[in-house]
Amino acid sequence: MEIEDGQGRAPAAYGVGDASYRAAGERPGITKLVDAFYRIMAERPDAQRILRMHPKDLSVSRDKLARFLCGWMNGPKLYNEKYGAIRIPHAHEHLPVGPEERDAWLACMEVAIAEQGYASDFAVYLLRELRVPAERIVEVSRDPVRRDA
Ligand code: HEM
Repeated sequence: MEIEDGQGRAPAAYGVGDASYRAAGERPGITKLVDAFYRIMAERPDAQRILRMHPKDLSVSRDKLARFLCGWMNGPKLYNEKYGAIRIPHAHEHLPVGPEERDAWLACMEVAIAEQGYASDFAVYLLRELRVPAERIVEVSRDPVRRDA
């Protein structure tokens, strides 16, 4: 995927440097994305199971995800600054995340991304990239149904 760098130079790939971080509107844009994501999760019937896995008060979850995504997009490492090191699959190991939970999470993200008015190629790129850690979480997570099968 390519974007204009705004200065007439050759377009940069979203994966290069902090191009994704900038395309997402830096920290204010990512905070807005995460606020939309959790609002949508609260609204969607298919997301109620994953919502219930969270603490009742979502303010820390919102802060953690927004900070994490800033670093994940090669912006400032705000999660590490406040909460320390994290490995995403490991952080979800205690949760029962199968394909349905993964799809519900990604569906909330897809709608939240669509609300942000991002460049359409960035919206596609971002959702595709988020699938990678989401799949890893399914692989490592505690899923009683699959375990017992
Ligand atoms: C695959 C579907 C996913 C589900 C169902 C899910 C669910 C959750 C839940 C329930 C929590 C709160 C855990 C707790 O407070 O005990 C959480 C935390 C978190 N999630 Fe996810 N998540 C998913 C995917 C992702 C992805 C793809 C990312 C990153 C790109 C992510 C980033 C985070 C972060 C940074 C935290 C905070 C972890 C911590 O500090 O302990 N999650 N997730």
